[in-house]
Amino acid sequence: MIRFIEDASERRKISRQILEALPEWFEVEESREQYIRESAEQPFWAFVSKDENQGFLCLKETGKATMELAVMGVRKEFHRKGIGRRLFAAARDYAARKGYEFIQVKTVRSGVYADYDITNAFYQSLGFKELEVFPKYWDEANPCQIYVMSLKNAINTISTRHSYRGEFLQESVPEADLLTIAKAGLDAPSGCNKQTTDLIIVNDPDMLSKIKAQLDPPVAQTAPAMIVVLTRRINAYRDKCFAVQDYSAAIENMLLAIVELGYQSCWYEGHITDDDRICDKIAAVLNVPEEYDVVCILPVGKAKDDFHAPSKKPLIERVRFNRWSQ
Ligand SMILES: Cc1cc2nc3c(=O)[nH]c(=O)nc-3n(C[C@H](O)[C@H](O)[C@H](O)COP(=O)(O)O)c2cc1C
Repeated sequence: MIRFIEDASERRKISRQILEALPEWFEVEESREQYIRESAEQPFWAFVSKDENQGFLCLKETGKATMELAVMGVRKEFHRKGIGRRLFAAARDYAARKGYEFIQVKTVRSGVYADYDITNAFYQSLGFKELEVFPKYWDEANPCQIYVMSLKNAINTISTRHSYRGEFLQESVPEADLLTIAKAGLDAPSGCNKQTTDLIIVNDPDMLSKIKAQLDPPVAQTAPAMIVVLTRRINAYRDKCFAVQDYSAAIENMLLAIVELGYQSCWYEGHITDDDRICDKIAAVLNVPEEYDVVCILPVGKAKDDFHAPSKKPLIERVRFNRWSQ
């Protein structure tokens, strides 16, 4: 299990325990002690199984747009079990959610020491790309390879998007950003290109309060903006209506655009389309014409609280190649 460790002395204890067990990489006492000292002050994750700390990773900000994978270690007996990968995924999601654009990591260049060749191969397998080698950054015997990874790409945004139900910062969202999000939604495919989805962007404080007043139990009460999703039941051909698929594709595109621009949101559909028909009350507030249904609201704003990804079933349980079973 991955745990985010908050307590500085626990961070120090875990990093010491693991780095001292990895002399192949952390033999030099002075630099090992520096890693341990610094790790106490940084975002820190441990992999814990049966009350045993098997690995850890910590990040360090090296610029406004960049986090560095400052140090990571997995005890040798637990190598090749996917622990490093899971620690990195947690750290990458965190950095992306905090709005950083890059992660960098430094190591000794490939072709110098066999142990570091393994490290290089591991970073490359995570998706890091070679940025530059600095031959004298540490010393000539240890040429420094810098790897970099962009956090702003579609695949990363998809895997770092999660439903945010916490409070929002009281910062307004620029109209240009709201329009970019709406355009991403309407750029989605629709059955026979019938474009059955429409949107109402709500950023006027009075209108926002009127919508929030309908949300019982209350959700998204601190959101500085909302996008209300409307659908119209138009048949794509014969009696085939793809309106649900159309607005679902639009919503997913908007959620991704929201995260890409550094905001957070949640797909509130169940909440407003239940028996109490909050959606109809919202439609009345917004003067929505009769042929449209309100199906979803997406709050948009900067997250105030931290949040963690819900667990999803392993890929292997839900994806098969070629047939269901042999
Ligand atoms: C069709 C649909 C309706 C949803 N309705 C609600 C809702 O009313 N309230 C809510 O809190 N989350 C709602 N969600 C968000 C899901 O609960 C959430 O996507 C799911 O738990 C997975 O978590 P993740 O989005 O963080 O990956 C809805 C999602 C979908 C796709």
